[in-house]
Order: sequence, then C-alpha cells, then structure tokens
Amino acid sequence: MIVLKLTDIGKNYKNTGDVLKGVNLELESGKMYGIMGPSGSGKSTLLNIIGTLEKASYGTIEILGNKLEGYGEKELCDLRAKNIGYIFQNFYLNPYLDAVENVMVPMKINHEIEPKERRKKAECLLKKFGLEERMKHLKSQMSGGEQQRVAIARALANDPDIILADEPTGNLDEDNEIIIFKTLKELAESGKVVVVVSHNEIVKEYADEVIEIIKGRIKA
Ligand SMILES: Nc1ncnc2c1ncn2[C@@H]1O[C@H](COP(=O)(O)OP(=O)(O)O)[C@@H](O)[C@H]1O
Ligand SMILES: [Mg+2]
Repeated sequence: MIVLKLTDIGKNYKNTGDVLKGVNLELESGKMYGIMGPSGSGKSTLLNIIGTLEKASYGTIEILGNKLEGYGEKELCDLRAKNIGYIFQNFYLNPYLDAVENVMVPMKINHEIEPKERRKKAECLLKKFGLEERMKHLKSQMSGGEQQRVAIARALANDPDIILADEPTGNLDEDNEIIIFKTLKELAESGKVVVVVSHNEIVKEYADEVIEIIKGRIKA
C-alpha cells in the first residue's frame, strides 16, 4: 500500500535558492527506505517535508490518502501525533524524565490511549527493545545506544504507520549502529513505512530501496 506520495516537491529559500527540486516519491508500507547523499544535498529537508515539520515551497503530499494542502496547524499536529514517529541523531530525550516517562510523552496528546494504560504500554515497548533494566533511568544514566532505543520506543508510542529517522546512528558505535538498523528493518517488516537518512553505507544492507539525493534532486 502506498502510504506517502510526493509529487513534484520543491523547496527554496531566499538566501540558498533551490534546496529540493522536482522530487517525486511513492513510499509503501512494509518497506525500509534509505536516503543517502552528500552533506547539504537536502536529505534532512526532504525528511522534514515528508514528516510535515517543514512546508514545501511547491508540490503536493498525500499521506494515507489525505492531500495535505489546506491542512491547518492543528490538523497537521493531529496527523503527526497519530501517524508519524520521529527519531533523531541526538536522541532528544527529556533529561528530567526517566525512560518510561519519555516514552509516555507522545501518548499525552492521544486520547485513544487511556491515561492509566500509558505507563504499561511504555514499559511494554521498552521491554521489546531490551531495556527492562533501564525503565527508571534518566538520559544521563544511559549509553548512547540505550538512549536511541528509548527514542525508538517513544517514536512507536502511538503506533504510527510512518517512522522517520535522521542520521539515527550518527552518534553511535558500530555495534549499536547494527542494532538500530536491525530494529528499523524489523519495524518495516511489521508493516510500517520506515525512512532513514544516513550517510552510513551499512544502510544499503538493510534498506529495501536506497534513494540518492544530489544537490536537491533524486538521482534516477
Ligand atoms: N532554514 C534554512 N534557510 C536557508 N537555507 C537552508 C535552511 N535549512 C537548510 N538550508 C540549506 O539547504 C541545504 C540542504 O540542507 P539539509 O537538508 O540540511 O542537507 P543534508 O541533510 O543533506 O545535509 C543546505 O545547503 C542548507 O544550507
Ligand atoms: Mg541532514
């Protein structure tokens, strides 16, 4: 099933000109996509546009059959909260919350999960990623690999169809890199769309398709 469809997407800024040009993509459920390309080629911009965090200058996006033009900030917020999970290079865990509480954060804007079920669900996700011994740990008490696994659990809090990761292994050693790529691959196999920006060649071993961007254009 096509979950995301981008048609003739472009992005330009006053100072930098065209950052993305004529991007057409159809992304299917059950697949992991790797986005690769040199630094500054537009990878993060594309991921942010796919994730509705940034608006394209032109072109159209369809997510789960919904055209996004005309969506207001509130509707976009809802769509993001329910359908998209984000994973970043710097993990971005809240340093004042323990692992379970971090995973519970996205559930707070999801009325479909009863407040009393949130903790249980967060614990369940953390166990799935081998973090049963880290539930009460703060960010400062976990390794980089553990922090990224907490961040993945958090991205899954509302069971989104789409998982977007921007250089998720950029701050990790090789053993942890492999764990993260394997985990992302399993998420794709479970039926999600997984899009991973990475300049790590290892991504090619895991991705079903590699999308190469050079100077804002997808290489055919
Ligand atoms: N807010 C912005 N204003 C102006 N230029 C930007 C802005 N954000 C990104 N750019 C430019 O867009 C280009 C692509 O950036 P980015 O998508 O972050 O590349 P990548 O992730 O591939 O390294 C860069 O040349 C960058 O300088
Ligand atoms: Mg980037």
